[in-house]
Amino acid sequence: MCGIVGYTGSKEAGPILVAGLRRLEYRGYDSAGVAAVEDGSIEVRKQAGRVQILEELLRQQPVRASNGISHTRWATHGPANDVNAHPHVGGRGGKRSVAVVHNGVVENHATLRRELEAEGFVFRSQTDTEVVAHLTARELERGDDPLDALLRVLPRLEGTYGLAMVTAERPGELLGARLGSPLVVGVGDDEHFLASDPVAIAAHTASVAYLQDGEVVRLTPKDFEIRHRERGPITPRIDRIDWKPDAVEMGGHAHYMLKEIREQPDTVLNACRGRLVREEGSSRLGGLNMTARQLRRVRRVVFAACGTSWHAALVGEYLIERLAHLPVEVEYASEFRYRNAPLDDRTLVFVLSQSGETADTLGALREAKRRGQPTLAIVNTVGSTIAREADGGVYLHAGLEVGVASTKAFSAQVAVLTLLALHLGRLRGLSFSEGTAVLKALEAVPSLIGEALKAEPAIEAAAERVAQARSVLYLGRDIHFPVALEGALKLKEISYIHAEGYPTAEMKHGPIALIDVHTPSVFVAPRGPLHAKTLSNIEEVRARRGPVVSVGLADDDELTRLSDHVLPIPDAPDVVQPLLAVVPLQLLAYHVARIKGCDIDKPRNLAKSVTVE
Ligand code: F6R
Repeated sequence: MCGIVGYTGSKEAGPILVAGLRRLEYRGYDSAGVAAVEDGSIEVRKQAGRVQILEELLRQQPVRASNGISHTRWATHGPANDVNAHPHVGGRGGKRSVAVVHNGVVENHATLRRELEAEGFVFRSQTDTEVVAHLTARELERGDDPLDALLRVLPRLEGTYGLAMVTAERPGELLGARLGSPLVVGVGDDEHFLASDPVAIAAHTASVAYLQDGEVVRLTPKDFEIRHRERGPITPRIDRIDWKPDAVEMGGHAHYMLKEIREQPDTVLNACRGRLVREEGSSRLGGLNMTARQLRRVRRVVFAACGTSWHAALVGEYLIERLAHLPVEVEYASEFRYRNAPLDDRTLVFVLSQSGETADTLGALREAKRRGQPTLAIVNTVGSTIAREADGGVYLHAGLEVGVASTKAFSAQVAVLTLLALHLGRLRGLSFSEGTAVLKALEAVPSLIGEALKAEPAIEAAAERVAQARSVLYLGRDIHFPVALEGALKLKEISYIHAEGYPTAEMKHGPIALIDVHTPSVFVAPRGPLHAKTLSNIEEVRARRGPVVSVGLADDDELTRLSDHVLPIPDAPDVVQPLLAVVPLQLLAYHVARIKGCDIDKPRNLAKSVTVE
């Protein structure tokens, strides 16, 4: 959510700052801007709209400097227009002494604004960030060193921030601060970078130092120093980024989302790599940092997550109930963190997150920690805040996910949850042969997803029909209910068609009122113990002249007879069917959005990583 890039070195900063923003654009794309210190004066170029528009502006009015900061915004306070775009400049009486970019929310901005206005500071924007710029300018007026000025400003801010700033008086110096919004330092040769996500700087360096909450950093071309706000100097830990810059390229696919959907055979392979223990009919999840004895004591599992990760957790609930007979509760992280959910020392709390930065999920993790609970995380992004703060967990190894609509992370999460359910099951009543059957089913999944991907032509035909609809129902029973929820989320977020997911049989209790000739129903209907019941529910929709799209087996004649379109998937044991059934639903959403001409990788109002509450 919002992207920050900073640079100090000897190269021209403008192109580095803008290229970094392009990498981050998936985090927010309402407006973009750059500030740099050119001959001792702060120059700002910013504009509403995409990074491409900023690039054009910089072509017409270049900034000549070898330092600077840049930002791509996802609006929180104030509409997305030129004035509210970051950077914001601070100073009194026409002086421009500091420029600031900010991710997060300054909750007490209204009070601070009144205080500063009373002292003659004139505000140009409606953002909460501008108070940070003026507060820093006020400290600088007292002749403070910029870092000291920043250290005096930070305790005044209530809320969250990832900040970067430049000052007119120290052109080669870049400052950053973190509380709740990620910030990482990139270490180069005679140059340093600052970014909200290492992806922005991966083209320049693989050496990074992640800032922790409460830390500030001062960077010059030659050096950087990190201090804690209260505790003083910190010795930085340098990490290596484990993916290549070309992971950020589209690789010939029309969109990142399509690329990531098509990567899913590898995604599942990577999530399972090294974790299948055939000789025990079980799985190995060493990162949980828990002994078999500790895991056997567990009586209840709680999952907290948001969005697609929440849907994956729901699949996990079915899997753990089925394989390990353990009660599972799946919570919206945003609700869990403010409830007084009963937890005890036999409850295992997991958070799930692709980005590892989602504010609500991080809040849930911290709440569980506060309550003395060991916390575990199922996370994709290595080195992310959630990954660092959890006591243990499992990495997804899905690689970088750029498309705002999450796809391959869902599959990786479901694969990891299958391994978790298997592991817990084998410590309880699940037999060796049952465990081995699950392992075999998982091993077959990558090639079965490959087959499911071949159905794209049939999916495109169904998409033509769905694209005409204003509302669509997604229906699934049992383990396919969360898959239906995920299909509906994919459709609504990228094509802006209203879609709702329901348990299939629940349709009769209300949503059936929506069915008419214009409202398609998408049934997730592979073969299984409840298949005959699903076929009856399809009949009910047909009796009301509702169009039917089904995800099911190609040789299922009855399903084919009842459906206007069948999106075929191969047959597989039901524990792994969600990994197959979700694929045509992702592709259906993709093609509907394409037919409607929507911006697939950057749907309106959304951001990839939601780092505000
Ligand atoms: C949907 C989507 C969001 C995320 C949600 C949680 O396609 O991407 O619903 O799933 O914001 O994000 P993470 O998993 O990064 O915590």
